[in-house]
Amino acid sequence: MGREKTGFQRLLVLLVVFGLIVGLNSFSFAAGSNKTLKVPSEYKTIQAAIDAASSGDAIQAAAGKYQENIILKEGVILQGAGADATTIDGNGKGNVVEGAKGAVIEGFTITNSGKRGTTGDIMDVGISAKHAPMTIANCRIIGNNAGIRTYFSPSNIINNIVADNRVYGLYILYSDSSVKNNIVYNNGSYGVYNSYSTPEVINNTIFKNFDGIYSEVSKVVVKNNIVVNNKSAGIRWAEFPDAQKGTGFMKGVEPILSYNLVWGNKTDRVNVSPAEGDISKDPLFTDIAKGDVRLKKGSPAINNGSPDNADNDPDATRNDIGAYGGPLAQKTITASPQAVSYASLKIKTETLEEPDYGSQSTWSGAGGTKSGRGLFQSWCVSCHGALGKGDGQLADTLGEGIRPRDLSNAELLSARSDEFLFKVIKNGGPSVGFSDAMMNFGATLSDEEIKNIIAYVRKDICKCQYKGVGGK
Ligand code: HEC
Repeated sequence: MGREKTGFQRLLVLLVVFGLIVGLNSFSFAAGSNKTLKVPSEYKTIQAAIDAASSGDAIQAAAGKYQENIILKEGVILQGAGADATTIDGNGKGNVVEGAKGAVIEGFTITNSGKRGTTGDIMDVGISAKHAPMTIANCRIIGNNAGIRTYFSPSNIINNIVADNRVYGLYILYSDSSVKNNIVYNNGSYGVYNSYSTPEVINNTIFKNFDGIYSEVSKVVVKNNIVVNNKSAGIRWAEFPDAQKGTGFMKGVEPILSYNLVWGNKTDRVNVSPAEGDISKDPLFTDIAKGDVRLKKGSPAINNGSPDNADNDPDATRNDIGAYGGPLAQKTITASPQAVSYASLKIKTETLEEPDYGSQSTWSGAGGTKSGRGLFQSWCVSCHGALGKGDGQLADTLGEGIRPRDLSNAELLSARSDEFLFKVIKNGGPSVGFSDAMMNFGATLSDEEIKNIIAYVRKDICKCQYKGVGGK
């Protein structure tokens, strides 16, 4: 436990100072030449300061609300005056913050992204790291379409609150990210989603999402987390055989679980077994209704996390499970970045390029195979479900009375021409008078890929061909 300033935190502060002197994260810039740029006193907008900054410079935004969509720059450190005081509001458009390689963002509330998309790299999010490994710490990422996405960007995601986002909380795609000491709740679909990644998900508190943690084709380490009161599964390993086995460079991977407190979810585990050190008991939060998930005295999570010394709490006692335990224990979200900064944390600075999946692959996330089956699994099952029955994870989240269509309904699909299906998939629901919850895939999928999906739906989902309008 331990709430006072600990040796560890002092060490962190020292590390930050040291980091600023000798150069951060192996980015090269001339020692001593780093500037601190102030917003709004020197630069009116955060973006103006970023544009004037170079790698290694720090930008400090004073308390206040900034209505901007930010594009970070390589190696720049962006600090707010604490998540309670400093907000970046994306005006309901696009990503609120577009990351950059080696950049750091800490001490902000990030809110109000655009509402586009439910999956992949085209989805609007609070913070997007795309080919941009970076550090995101001490932020509150709330009320976006999705919270944080790392896409080919192994990143540090530490000590954040990620809540009330429409679909995902954290969306980890092709990234060996480090997800530690975050509080992730009330997100419409998955709290933490891992695909084709080998991230560490350690000492987080994850509750009241649809699924708490979902993984597919991922060698994810899931340790010391509290995963409770999620509306569907606490921890879910993919249902599709391909997403379990993996292919190519991610063949045969599985999650590695230990010392999680998993309790009170609709189903605690799907396709995974209880593991070493797991606990199934009420964690005794201080006040879950108010989002206060600090542990009450007598909580079974206290001193019951991993016994490894490296996982000890700041006061050198055994790990407390959840966001308030472990070496990077949440202090409080109001901590300004100047109080506890993670800017010195090392990140992997190589930008990962998208591998060539080859034509053999039957499964892929974004940008991989052209197989209709793989594409359907990547882009459609979140709403339409693995078997196309209209029962995907997001099915209940699309709005009053709006349900994904049952694509396994042979009677319906026999009355739809391929041209009609092509149109609705390419141009979206409104192009044929349906709801815009059926998003358009014209910018995501090639015509050929859409045709492959239609062929797959005909062959394996409805098992039917077009028989003319109203045809039998
Ligand atoms: C965000 C959720 C969502 C995603 C993702 C999604 N759909 Fe849909 N889809 C819907 C909804 C909702 C409807 C029904 C719209 C309505 O009732 O107005 C629909 C309708 C359809 C229809 C129309 C069926 C008919 O009645 O003719 C087709 C075809 C379809 N979707 C195919 C797909 C395919 C293929 C994908 C993946 C490439 C996909 N959808 C992805 C939500 C989604």
